[in-house]
Amino acid sequence: MKIKNAVALVTGANRGLGKAFAEKLLAGGAKKVYAAARNPSAITIAGVAEIKLDITKPEEVAAAAKACGDVTLLVNNAGIARGSGFLGEKSIANARAEIETNYFGPLAMSRAFAPVLAANGGGAIINVLSVLSWISLPGGGTYCASKSAAWSLTNGLRLELRAQGTQVVALHVGLMDTDMARDIPGEKSNPLDVVRQVLKALEAGKEEVLADETTRQVKKGLSAEPGVYLVAASG
Ligand SMILES: NC(=O)c1ccc[n+]([C@@H]2O[C@H](COP(=O)([O-])OP(=O)(O)OC[C@H]3O[C@@H](n4cnc5c(N)ncnc54)[C@H](OP(=O)(O)O)[C@@H]3O)[C@@H](O)[C@H]2O)c1
Repeated sequence: MKIKNAVALVTGANRGLGKAFAEKLLAGGAKKVYAAARNPSAITIAGVAEIKLDITKPEEVAAAAKACGDVTLLVNNAGIARGSGFLGEKSIANARAEIETNYFGPLAMSRAFAPVLAANGGGAIINVLSVLSWISLPGGGTYCASKSAAWSLTNGLRLELRAQGTQVVALHVGLMDTDMARDIPGEKSNPLDVVRQVLKALEAGKEEVLADETTRQVKKGLSAEPGVYLVAASG
């Protein structure tokens, strides 16, 4: 789909990658960008339509779909990472919170906006996933599991929405220079560069973006023995 004249809704648009999406969509000629945030007063982008939206709250998701009936592009960007392994004292609570936001959030948003997209000609959904949809890391396993679930959701949505002409794009990316990765050492992608790649792929009709070298290497290595994944990710 084309960015020019698109009407986009970006979740978690107040900072990080979501903010970069909203800015780039506007700059690329989108007719309207709904910048959604739990706290709309935190949105700092000129020219967007602000929406109050916590993707884990069904009533707010329903209200957003009702208020934004002209949307042609949904960007499921909002996410959380609790930095939690599977065996810690708070692992179950962390896993539930991450699944609630990173899996049920995009699921609820996609269900609410599927009829909107259909009514507006099909449009597209971009789901922000991770290189960690494919591999697990010690100390971050519960987040990885939630992103695996979101990957599966993306694959399923793509099949179910094909009949109504909705393009479903998966973004897989490693470390990005945002608050989420602030305390994690390593090379980080610039969110604006990641968005540029995604929007180019969207316009070219593609369904998957592997935004950095680590992500491309990990995907290539998926047929290897499980233990090798970790080496690929940290190398
Ligand atoms: N940074 C990385 O290295 C990296 C790598 C791979 C994938 N990702 C993914 O990229 C996406 C964007 O993350 P980021 O790096 O930009 O992180 P970030 O700077 O921490 O931003 C996260 C955004 O999600 C919002 N959010 C969290 N829970 C929400 C909820 N229940 N409802 C609505 N909004 C909610 C936050 O809003 P508040 O300001 O209200 O908290 C914030 O706007 C996430 O899906 C993340 O998993 C990040």
